[in-house]
Amino acid sequence: MRNRMIAGNWKMNETYTEGVALAEGLAKELEGGTGDVDVVVCTPAVDLKGVSEVIEQHDAPFALGAENVYWEEKGAFTGEISPSMLTNVGAKYCIIGHSERRGYFHETDEDVNKKAKALMAHGIVPISCCGESLEVREAGKHVEFVVDQIKKDTEGLTIEDPSKYVIAYEPIWAIGTGKTATADDAQEVCGAIRETLAQIFGKETADGIRVLYGGSAKPNNVAGFLEKEDVDGALVGGASLKADSFAAMVKAAM
Ligand code: 13P
Repeated sequence: MRNRMIAGNWKMNETYTEGVALAEGLAKELEGGTGDVDVVVCTPAVDLKGVSEVIEQHDAPFALGAENVYWEEKGAFTGEISPSMLTNVGAKYCIIGHSERRGYFHETDEDVNKKAKALMAHGIVPISCCGESLEVREAGKHVEFVVDQIKKDTEGLTIEDPSKYVIAYEPIWAIGTGKTATADDAQEVCGAIRETLAQIFGKETADGIRVLYGGSAKPNNVAGFLEKEDVDGALVGGASLKADSFAAMVKAAM
């Protein structure tokens, strides 16, 4: 019903030259195909065109994603990148609402919502991130917090094809720390996300939306998350920066 998804988030790593080499390495690792697993590589803006060319040249079984977008179509927004600019270089996905953007760059739920609408209007699939801080988790309010984010981030969205909207649950305390949530922790929140989506969009749509887990996901722990009913894949930071470890995660999902 839902294809699994393994998505890499390179964050602010890999120059253009390094990014092309990493994409070529990944194309080679995955040359046998990825079965039913959808694989996405989200790169810094300057790497997009180069990685797109690698995908085309090798007919590589992964799709290109961006890490950020601005919702306006064009104009005086120095430094920003529009959805059309992303589609023009071959991006099919875009991460929005990552906790690093929310934390360092003050991205709000309202911004995330506008970005989702702009992307979807251009046929780009949002990978919309949510997740609680350690403080919220320790106060036992993590489910409530994430459900509230989901409601705000999806407000007024029309989801015609549920495979074209992806959510990533990334508890902030597990990102880049080596501290993973347990598979049960992930299921608890991913299950609550799906229930919330069912209330908003109806069960059929909710059942088609992929909910990924992210936060120190690695080749040796990804299978445990994937066993859970409502965890449909992973959004991978550090382990996506080496072709062999990222490919190992894809293979674990196949
Ligand atoms: P790590 O896998 O490095 O913990 O990063 C997770 C993440 O933030 C992916 O978006």
